[in-house]
Amino acid sequence: MTRTVPSPQKPRGAACLYTFPDASRFARQLARATGIEMERVTLHGFPDGESLVRMQPPVSDAAVLVRSLHNPNTKLVETLLAADALRRSGARRVILIAPYLPYMRQDTMFHPGEPVSQRVIGTLLGQAFDGVLTLEAHLHRIHRLDEVMPCQAQSLSAAPVLAAWVRRTGGRCFVVGPDEESEPWIRAIGQAAGAKWIVGKKERAGDRRVRIHFPALPPSSRAVLVDDIASSGGTLAVAARALRRAGVSTIDALVVHAIFAPDALSRLHAAGIRHVLSCDTIPHSTNALRAAPLMAAALQEMLS
Ligand code: R5P
Repeated sequence: MTRTVPSPQKPRGAACLYTFPDASRFARQLARATGIEMERVTLHGFPDGESLVRMQPPVSDAAVLVRSLHNPNTKLVETLLAADALRRSGARRVILIAPYLPYMRQDTMFHPGEPVSQRVIGTLLGQAFDGVLTLEAHLHRIHRLDEVMPCQAQSLSAAPVLAAWVRRTGGRCFVVGPDEESEPWIRAIGQAAGAKWIVGKKERAGDRRVRIHFPALPPSSRAVLVDDIASSGGTLAVAARALRRAGVSTIDALVVHAIFAPDALSRLHAAGIRHVLSCDTIPHSTNALRAAPLMAAALQEMLS
């Protein structure tokens, strides 16, 4: 009589972590920090531009999908498809780790005839996922991400990571935020770093054109400009020029999300910024500050 030997099955863990091909570096760090096994989502592009996602069914009740959503339009669709695939394959809880969350800046109807993109995308993701974790989601007009995302949504502050760099690089410097909306955040960074801080008054005249005015500056020759996002680089470049005109000789810039248009970095250096450093939420040559430890701790809390 022959006996059938059951094929070896993976033990059911607490969670499975799934990465898209473009997020594997960040996902590997998360997997290492949390001890969660990593699986890959594969992508297929149809000739008409539609996408198909495929993955191994999860061997746990909870599945964690990792992807930063810059260049968002196709990625958002693929991420929603992946959430559906995970649920249909048995995941009872599906969590999204999006180190960068897009469409958060259009958080009000700035002009008649425009949408509130933050609410549209927040609702879509909140309905598809049970939990969403991100870093610095540009919450300027609301206080918490779950106000626009109907799930267990959390936007972590990058202030501890940025303040640690300011502290580490020492010297008497002051922390500068380019706009008034960033004041609570800049204050938190300044206080944690033991440095003075100021914020400017910014007016936007177009996608790439801004004007910034600063109040009286602290008596220090080094400033660290801090912004949550750098896209065209216009905000930081204009802020750096204003600081230089006011007599600040050394200017560094810290950015959480390095979206950076192709010419943005050279624009910043041309404006007199010495070092430009970013968190590694979006792969870029300026990545120097690791966000994964912060997000891993929050993920573990969410899973428990
Ligand atoms: C705006 O409110 C954000 O905090 C950033 O200042 C802005 O997105 C930066 O964009 P850009 O680099 O194109 O000036």
